[in-house]
Amino acid sequence: METYYKNLLENNKKWVAEKLALDPDFFNKLAQGQKPPVLWIGCSDSRVPANEIIGAPPGEVFVHRNIANMVVHSDMNLLSVLDYAVNVLEVKHIIVCGHYGCGGVQTAMSNSHVGLIDNWIRHIKDVYRMNYNELQVIEDSKDRVNRFIELNVFEQVCNLAKTSIVQAAWERKADLHLHGWVYDVADGLIKDLNVNLADNSSLQEVYKLDL
Ligand code: CO
Repeated sequence: METYYKNLLENNKKWVAEKLALDPDFFNKLAQGQKPPVLWIGCSDSRVPANEIIGAPPGEVFVHRNIANMVVHSDMNLLSVLDYAVNVLEVKHIIVCGHYGCGGVQTAMSNSHVGLIDNWIRHIKDVYRMNYNELQVIEDSKDRVNRFIELNVFEQVCNLAKTSIVQAAWERKADLHLHGWVYDVADGLIKDLNVNLADNSSLQEVYKLDL
């Protein structure tokens, strides 16, 4: 265990040396500030490292991760990240990236009681309830959980669109696009769900804010 831990720090030194060998100014440039075009909202799952799977170098992706890539509109952490990304960094794209094999979504589909996390999982169960008719008729449980994972991403993209932060940005004609993706941990490929929102026109009337 001790060796494992020390290796992480050794790996860091090697990484720095590799970066500097390619570009002596690599860290000097990053130290000047960030202007990332993308906000990534992904799952905390260790197999879905945001930058790595899309080949994005440091400085390109502002990242928020939580269990099952949820956009919960009373979550101060998410809202703070979103507000900073949209209003200060002025990102152009917000990507909600779920993943097949997501333990959070699988748990939400079951009756397991895990602990405190049950309360977080509740938000995902709500997505199941909202899509009950579609999900209940899928007999194969793997197919059903995969579809649930996709529907959860779709719902979280809609949750982003419902926030006052995103709607205010659209109101002032900011170039801001929302996307939904699902990453497959089994082959490394990303499926674009083609939910691309750039205004609030597709929202149910009750969610549209007069800004
Ligand atoms: Co997950």
